[in-house]
Amino acid sequence: MNFVGSHILSVDQFVRADIERVFTVADMMRPYALRQKVTRVLEGAILGNMFFEPSTRTRVSFGCAWNLLGGEVRETTGIKASALAKGESFYDTARVLSGYSDLIVMRHEKSGSVAEFAAASRVPVINGGDGANEHPSQALLDLYTISRELADHGKTVDGMTIALVGDLRYGRAVHSLCKLLAAYQGIHFSLISPEALKLPDAYVELLRNHGHQVFESDALPTGIQQADIVYVTRTQEERFDTLEEAQRYKGIFRLNQAIYTEFCEPNTVIMHPLPRDSRADANELDNDLNDNPNLAIFRQTDNGVLIRMALFALILEVSDQVEASSRAVNWYTAKRF
Ligand code: NCD
Repeated sequence: MNFVGSHILSVDQFVRADIERVFTVADMMRPYALRQKVTRVLEGAILGNMFFEPSTRTRVSFGCAWNLLGGEVRETTGIKASALAKGESFYDTARVLSGYSDLIVMRHEKSGSVAEFAAASRVPVINGGDGANEHPSQALLDLYTISRELADHGKTVDGMTIALVGDLRYGRAVHSLCKLLAAYQGIHFSLISPEALKLPDAYVELLRNHGHQVFESDALPTGIQQADIVYVTRTQEERFDTLEEAQRYKGIFRLNQAIYTEFCEPNTVIMHPLPRDSRADANELDNDLNDNPNLAIFRQTDNGVLIRMALFALILEVSDQVEASSRAVNWYTAKRF
C-alpha cells in the first residue's frame, strides 16, 4: 500500500509486505522510545487526538508517539466535551478539525464511524477503535509483539498455535488481529469463548479460507494446551444491551499462575490488549502472573509507542528523515525495556 497521506481504517488495507514495512520502521523507532535519542521530524505538526470512548493506553501512546517525533497534540476526550453532543455531524466535525490538525486519531463507539469521519476529513485519519469493528493499531502492535516474543524462542508467526480467550464476539482487537494473522501461514487457532460470545462466522471463515486450522471450545484448560501464545480478553461490557447480561460472562475464564503451570507450555507467552478487568467478579488475568517472565502485556504496551510512531512516520513521509535529524538526549533516562 501507499502509506503517504493514507487513512488507516482497517487492517484489510495491509498485505504482508506492508505489515513488515511497519515493523521495520517500528524497530528503527526503539532508541527514540527508549529516550536514548531525540528527533524533531514532526516539529510544528499537530495531532488531533479525538477519543469519544474511554481509553488510557491507546490515547496516551498515540500522543506520546507524536510527541516523540517532535509534534504537538490537541486532545478531545468524551462526547460531552465536543460539539457532537450538540447534534453536530461527523461531516462537520471532520471538516472543522482537519483544518486544525495534520493527522487525526479517532475512537468512537459506533462501528464505521471513523470511516464516515475520514471521508470528510482533509487530513489522514487513523482508526483508534470503532465500536466492535476494528482496532488496527492494536492488531499491529499485537502482531509485532507476537513475532518478537516467538523469535526469542526460535519460533515464527507462520505455524504457531494461538489461543484467543474470552469475548471474541465484541472484541475489536481480536477481530483486527485475526484479519492480520490471516495473511500468515499454517496457524492453529484455538478459540475459547462462551457460546454467546463466539468469534463471528465471517472471521472464522476468513481464517479457514486462508488455510488456517480453527478449533472452537468453551474450556480454558484444554484450549490453552500447546499454545505458543495465549491472548486473553476482557468482556466488553459496554457493548451489551444490559450490564446484567455482560455480568453472566465475567469471570468464566480466569488465567492464573496455577492454571498456567498445569496446562501451558514452559514458554507460552501471555498477552492481553488491556485493560484487564481486575475486579473480583472478572479477574480474567490474575495479578499472580505479574512476575511470570512470559507475561508480555507491558511489552505490548511499550511496543504500541513504536508501532504508532512508525504509522505516523510512514503516513507523513518522514521515516527516512528520522535518523538524519536525531541527537542524543541530555536528561537522565530510566531503563524502560
Ligand atoms: C481494547 C479496546 O479498546 O478495544 N483496549 C485497547 O485499546 N488496548 C480492548 C478492551 O477495551 O478490552
